[in-house]
Amino acid sequence: MERSLKNALQHRLLALEKSGRRRFARQVESLARGRCIIDGQELINFGSNDYLSLAHDPRVCAAFSEAASRQSGATASGLIAGRSRLHAELENQLAEFEGCEAALLYPTGFAANLGTIQAFVRPGDVIFSEQDNHASLIDAVRGTKAAVSIYSRSDLNALVAQIRTMRPDCEFGFLVTDGVFSMDGSVAPLRELCDIADEFHLAVIVDEAHGTGVIGPNGRGACEFSGVQSRPFVHIGTLSKALGCLGGFVTGSRVAIEWLRNRARTQFFSTALPPAVCAAALQSLQIVQSEPKRRTALLERNQLARSCARSVGLTVIGHGEAPILAVTVPGDKDIMAISRQLQHDGWFVPAIRPPTVPNGSSRFRISLTVSHEPDDIVAVLHQIAELTR
Ligand SMILES: Cc1ncc(COP(=O)(O)O)c(C=O)c1O
Repeated sequence: MERSLKNALQHRLLALEKSGRRRFARQVESLARGRCIIDGQELINFGSNDYLSLAHDPRVCAAFSEAASRQSGATASGLIAGRSRLHAELENQLAEFEGCEAALLYPTGFAANLGTIQAFVRPGDVIFSEQDNHASLIDAVRGTKAAVSIYSRSDLNALVAQIRTMRPDCEFGFLVTDGVFSMDGSVAPLRELCDIADEFHLAVIVDEAHGTGVIGPNGRGACEFSGVQSRPFVHIGTLSKALGCLGGFVTGSRVAIEWLRNRARTQFFSTALPPAVCAAALQSLQIVQSEPKRRTALLERNQLARSCARSVGLTVIGHGEAPILAVTVPGDKDIMAISRQLQHDGWFVPAIRPPTVPNGSSRFRISLTVSHEPDDIVAVLHQIAELTR
């Protein structure tokens, strides 16, 4: 008998459940001061990307409310009738912040990665893409008709060998990387990558999702942190993490941005961001620039967390220049059971499992924010060490 699609999906869900990979909807009420409520219990929240604690900042919320009191949705895509004064102002401010000629907003960071790469790359081109890149970059690259080579940032000699083999047959070459790798907080070797790109005429595209606002002397992200801010062809960023809002953006030369405005399908076939989100993001951007002490506080918490993790015997993955601490769980331990126990004890710490990370590399991903008290950081790491021993 022919199986229905519904039945097949039911079986696939069961298979996911049996292998411990099924995800279930969860309701989380995010609170200020790095806390949240899950199942009626208030927890210290180590699962948010709100690194600078701007999502609850009264100034950001007030900017949002004021604009939202006049208009909710943008009503159309940016190219038709959805680009308001607030969108234009935010694009200008983002370009200035990044030190680039122009910027373009997208509905999300995911859409920015997808639309940007697919607008630039054509059949006959080649893309070199880091193996740990975010899913949005992976999908973007897969959706092109270019030649693709996946490299590891820990073996740049192999990358160069691949480039020597593939580059001569292709018209344009692209090197695509996360600036900060979201699953361990490490920064890409951007200086070396830019040098390689210069030698072989590759356009560098950096996804700054977890770097924007967080690292670099002015909070511009991994490129500024690495001293290569002016070298990528474009920077892609998101307003949804340290800026505490929603939306993606790309900054670069005027011509690159004009091309994207004309050709990035996820931008012009999708409704523009609500203007209130732009008003909130403008306020967040202003705070990022005027309150560098937030970055200093974050750095202090990151250093504390790393030294504490080591001192209690946890294995930390990655160099972790950014405030994401990934600690491994020994293979025979049930990470979900430990996660439940942590929740019972008052901590929300996401357990990251395959397929989000490779098989055998399940981990706790502890996102630090400026609102976390140093005592809480130390306490949660002691508790994780105790439970994983
Ligand atoms: C590295 C990276 N790039 C892009 C994105 C997508 O950003 P957004 O959530 O704004 O769609 C994410 C989000 O998880 C991310 O971690």
